[in-house]
Amino acid sequence: MTAELTAVALALALIGLIVFWSLKTGSPPTPTSPSVRRTMMALLPERLPGHHNGSIVELGSGWGGVAFALAKRYPLHPVIGYELSIIPWAVSRARLLVQPQANLNFRKTDFMRANLTESALVICYLMPETMVPLADRLERGLPNGALVLCNTFALPNWRALDQVNAPDMYSSPVYLYEKNSP
Ligand SMILES: C[S@@+](CC[C@H](N)C(=O)[O-])C[C@H]1O[C@@H](n2cnc3c(N)ncnc32)[C@H](O)[C@@H]1O
Repeated sequence: MTAELTAVALALALIGLIVFWSLKTGSPPTPTSPSVRRTMMALLPERLPGHHNGSIVELGSGWGGVAFALAKRYPLHPVIGYELSIIPWAVSRARLLVQPQANLNFRKTDFMRANLTESALVICYLMPETMVPLADRLERGLPNGALVLCNTFALPNWRALDQVNAPDMYSSPVYLYEKNSP
C-alpha cells in the first residue's frame, strides 16, 4: 500500500470512529465556539458554591477546550471531563500530556454513571433528547446548591437563575441553574 493510500485509510478510520460514537451517544463532538465559551465563563461566579473544593464536571467534554478553560479558571477545584467518543477523548488526553494541568482529568466513561455527589458545578453542551434523562439524573445525584451551566439546550422543568444569549450568529442561549430540590 502506498503512503497516500495508508493516509486515506487512516483518515477514513478516524472519521468512521467519530461518526460511530456520534450515532451511539446521539451527540457529535461539536466544540463550543469561542463566543459561546466566553458567554458561559462570564456567567460563572468567581467562587463556586460549597464549603470544600467540589469538583467541576463536564458532561461530554469533546476535544477538551472547555474543560481546560475551567481548570485554568478554577485551579483549586478538580475538573473532570467525561467523554465516550474515543478520538476526542484521546485528543484531550494527548493535550494534557503536552499542556499538563494538575487539576484536570479526562475519563472515557458514560457521564450518566459519574458520581456527582461532590460536585460544585456541572457543565454541558448536548442534544435536546439527552436533556430529559439528564435532568432526572441531576435531580437524583447532584447536591443542593451546585450550579449547572448548559449551552444551547435547557434542562426541562428547571427554572434558570440566569439566561443570556451569546453574541454569535445563532444568539445561542446559555442557561445557569442552581440545584435546589429536596
Ligand atoms: C456537542 S459535544 C460538546 C463538547 C464539549 N462539551 C464542548 O462544549 O466543546 C457533546 C459531547 O458529548 C459526548 N457525549 C454524549 N453523550 C455522552 C455520554 N453519555 N457520556 C460521555 N460523553 C457523552 C459526545 O461524544 C460529544 O463529544
